[in-house]
Amino acid sequence: MTARKRIGVLISGRGSNLQSLIDACNEPDYPAEIALVISNRPNAYGLERAQKAGIETRVIDHKHYPAREAFDADLDGALREADVDIVCNAGFMRLLTEGFVEAWRDWQLNIHPSLLPAFRGLHPQQQALDAGVCISGATVHFVRHEMDAGPILAQAAVPVHADDTEDSLSERILQAEHRLYPHALRLVASGAAWVEGEIVRYATAAGKAALLNWSLSD
Ligand code: GRF
Repeated sequence: MTARKRIGVLISGRGSNLQSLIDACNEPDYPAEIALVISNRPNAYGLERAQKAGIETRVIDHKHYPAREAFDADLDGALREADVDIVCNAGFMRLLTEGFVEAWRDWQLNIHPSLLPAFRGLHPQQQALDAGVCISGATVHFVRHEMDAGPILAQAAVPVHADDTEDSLSERILQAEHRLYPHALRLVASGAAWVEGEIVRYATAAGKAALLNWSLSD
């Protein structure tokens, strides 16, 4: 097997998506390993998950920085020091500067709990309920400077039920996220998907189509 890609995961909170990536990376044939987990919040539960898995962690607390540029420079420095190939945002609640986004262009992923481009920003599950959609889901995309925008890599759909609350829909989408993110990262880390312009290309048709098949199955 060619060398596993080194992943840096950015978190701010509970880190359940981080956990799904940790679990995936424990599979022997997975094409990536987590080199570093960085949180901007010192009490993020995801830090404990990483430590339990024996993964290096760093806290880079945005409150200690007067400007976003300085925060992002330290973030970038820590990722370079750890020799990271791909950055995965997993519940990371900071807007990144254009400089940082450009430095990791086409090598930074984010997961968002809606079927983008619908419902960007905060509370996308409530936005979906308010819009009355019948189907929602999760998206993994390459990061661009605009929030929750960028080439779409993978999506999973879930049904919206008539009696859903923000919590119940969030939980259903989260279960889909935990399957989607490892799948999406595998595509990029193995070279089976990449960005051309603003569109994601796949080495085989199955790279994209497989997601459509399992997305509504439960
Ligand atoms: C997830 O719903 C993710 O899509 C969004 O923030 C949430 C993070 O959850 N960006 P967790 O920290 O991974 O449990």
